[in-house]
Amino acid sequence: MSKPNIANKTAVQNSAFLRACRREPVDYTPVWLLRQAGRYQKAYRDIRAQIDFLTLCKTPALTAEITVMAVERLGVDAAILFADLLPILQPMGLHLEYLKGEGPVIHNPVRDNTAIDRLVEADPDSQGYVYEAIELARRGLAPSIPLIGFAGAPFTLASYAIEGGASRDYRHVKTLMYRDAEAWHVLMDKLARSVTAYLNRQIAAGVDAVQLFDSWVGCLGPDDYRVYVQPYMRHIFDHLTPGVPAIHFGTSAAALLPLMREAGGDVIGLDWRVDLSEVWSRIGYDRAVQGNLDPIVLFASPEEIGRRVQNILQKAEKRPGHIFNLGHGILPETSEDHVIALVDAVHRFSQK
Ligand code: CP3
Repeated sequence: MSKPNIANKTAVQNSAFLRACRREPVDYTPVWLLRQAGRYQKAYRDIRAQIDFLTLCKTPALTAEITVMAVERLGVDAAILFADLLPILQPMGLHLEYLKGEGPVIHNPVRDNTAIDRLVEADPDSQGYVYEAIELARRGLAPSIPLIGFAGAPFTLASYAIEGGASRDYRHVKTLMYRDAEAWHVLMDKLARSVTAYLNRQIAAGVDAVQLFDSWVGCLGPDDYRVYVQPYMRHIFDHLTPGVPAIHFGTSAAALLPLMREAGGDVIGLDWRVDLSEVWSRIGYDRAVQGNLDPIVLFASPEEIGRRVQNILQKAEKRPGHIFNLGHGILPETSEDHVIALVDAVHRFSQK
């Protein structure tokens, strides 16, 4: 029984994706895509026609199937667990619902210290359906395909907990931060501890890498990031189970990249608003980078997609430690054929 397991571990550790995370040389540039499983796929829409999103997230047989299906259809070099950032807020005491056409809503947003004091740290046992999906997906994937687990970063989770949904100016988040720093720090501490325990349980269940999504952190300037966010990111990276690469992802965060790097992460995720070559030299070549195609390029012709891929590969200069990805998630209106063409172009143009 133990022999195939060892062989499988070797296969996954030698995968192009994990080699790139460790900045080791690879035969071709590995690629996976943010939201590679989702509404742009007919097979996903067919499943979603039968079941609401939150119930889907809590049905391991289906989330594992969706995770594996995306890899098989696209030919990407890593799987990302199909799950969502926000269900971890439920055991903390927040009432989460996904409304049709509106996205996630929190019905009892926290806007003052009393509400924040009432929130509890998330019991990692509450996310059992996620660990079960990890075990199922791991068994369904080819042994050489790494599985990426993930969680929302404390700032991005706090922004949902405080705003109650998506926001344009983060007025409530920043108002709390500027008016009651003490309450802010209590909230971020609870979130950071919850996320750390949750990610370590994902690692114990079998993920090969983890990504922290700080999708909305780009609304902050560097001084605020340093005081209100960085200590919590550092806490998480410092307390993750060693030996599993961590990807630190943000968007619109060009000015924050040196501070994000300082906070931690073996791989820094980049969106398309930065020049990959320029920021990698700024971040330092002792970190891997992931990115950074504009997801809207997928609406162009396959020829144009190919040219844009070549451009990004040139900026990475064949340095060890580049993982190809989009700068943000695939949009639901995207053609699946163009996504397949993208993956193929990355493999073809990066072949050593
Ligand atoms: O990338 C993957 O393939 C893994 C799955 C994944 C989902 N959400 C599935 C999903 C991941 C990694 C996420 C992360 C996530 N979720 C983020 C950070 C990523 C980012 O965009 O930077 C955020 C902010 C969320 C919260 C969330 N969940 C939002 C804002 C929405 C609504 C999005 C929309 O356009 O309607 C969701 C729902 C959601 N999460 C969907 C999917 C496939 C759509 C649900 C549906 O089928 O209706």
